[in-house]
Amino acid sequence: MKKMKIGIIGGTGGMGRWFARFFQSEEYEVLVSGRHSGPNFSEIARSCEVVVIGVPIAATVEVIECIGPLLPESALLMDLTSLKEGPVKAMLKFSSAEVVGLHPLFGPRVKSLTGHSIVICPARVKSTFPPIRTLFLKHQARLIETTPEHHDEMMAFVQGLNHLNSILLGLTLGQSGVDLEELKQFATPIFKTKLDILKKIFSRNSRLYAEIITGNRHISQILSGYAKSLTELREVIDLRDGEKVKKRIDKTNLAL
Ligand SMILES: NC(=O)c1ccc[n+]([C@@H]2O[C@H](COP(=O)([O-])OP(=O)(O)OC[C@H]3O[C@@H](n4cnc5c(N)ncnc54)[C@H](OP(=O)(O)O)[C@@H]3O)[C@@H](O)[C@H]2O)c1
Repeated sequence: MKKMKIGIIGGTGGMGRWFARFFQSEEYEVLVSGRHSGPNFSEIARSCEVVVIGVPIAATVEVIECIGPLLPESALLMDLTSLKEGPVKAMLKFSSAEVVGLHPLFGPRVKSLTGHSIVICPARVKSTFPPIRTLFLKHQARLIETTPEHHDEMMAFVQGLNHLNSILLGLTLGQSGVDLEELKQFATPIFKTKLDILKKIFSRNSRLYAEIITGNRHISQILSGYAKSLTELREVIDLRDGEKVKKRIDKTNLAL
C-alpha cells in the first residue's frame, strides 16, 4: 500500500523536525516548511494527505484559519500545540478534513517515542488517523485519549503551575543579585536539576513557556491558589515556627 504524503507546517522548528524525522524513518514522504523555506503552507495543505501544524502557540490558530479551508475532506489535519482547546476548535471550524489534536508530552531532544506520552484529542476521525495511531503504538508510545478541554485543565497544572513555579524561581534569583557562578559551587543535585530547567526557560525558549502559561484559560485560578498558598505559608514561616510549617505541609495530605 502506498504510504501517505505528510506535510509539516513549522517543520523547520524543534517539534516539527522531530516528527518529520519520525515519519521519514517510517518511509513516509514528508514535506517540511517554515516561513521562509520549503513549499509554502498552501501548497502543503493542498497536496498532502496528512498535514501537521507545529508552529508557535500564538501563531497556530491564524495558520489553521489560512490553510484549513484548503484541505480536502479526505485529508487529516493535526497539530502539535501544547494547548488543545483553541487549535482543535479552529481546525473543526476552518476545515472539513479529519481532525485530531496531538500534544506530545516530550521535547525535541528525545531519541525515540518509546515510553513517551502523546495526548490525542480525536475530534473528527475517519480512516486516515487510525494507521498513524497504530504507528505510534508500534513505537511504544503511551497514548492518552481525551478532550481538548480536559487536556488544558490537566496542563494548567502539569505545565502552567510547574513552569510558573520555575519562572518565579528564576525571577527571584535574578532579583536577589546573588552570584550564580558562586551559587553553582554550592548546588545540591536537585538544585542543579532546577538550574538546568531555568537554563531552558531563561536562555532558550522563553516564548514557548510564556505562551503555555498565558494561553491556558485555567491559569488565573491556578495563580490565585498559588498566591493564597504563598501568603498562608509566609504567615507561618514569619513566625519562625517549624512545627507550624510542618503542620501546614502535613494538612495538605498530598496522596503522592
Ligand atoms: N518544544 C517543545 O518542547 C514542545 C513540546 C510539545 C509541543 N510543542 C508545541 O509544538 C509547537 C512548536 O513548538 P517548537 O518548540 O517546535 O517551536 P519552534 O522550534 O520555535 O518552531 C516553530 C516553527 O514554526 C515556524 N514559525 C515560527 N513563527 C511562525 C509564525 N508566526 N507563523 C508560522 N510559522 C511560524 C518556524 O519556522 P521558521 O522559523 O523556519 O520560519 C518553525 O518551523 C508549539 O505549538 C508547541 O506548543 C513544543
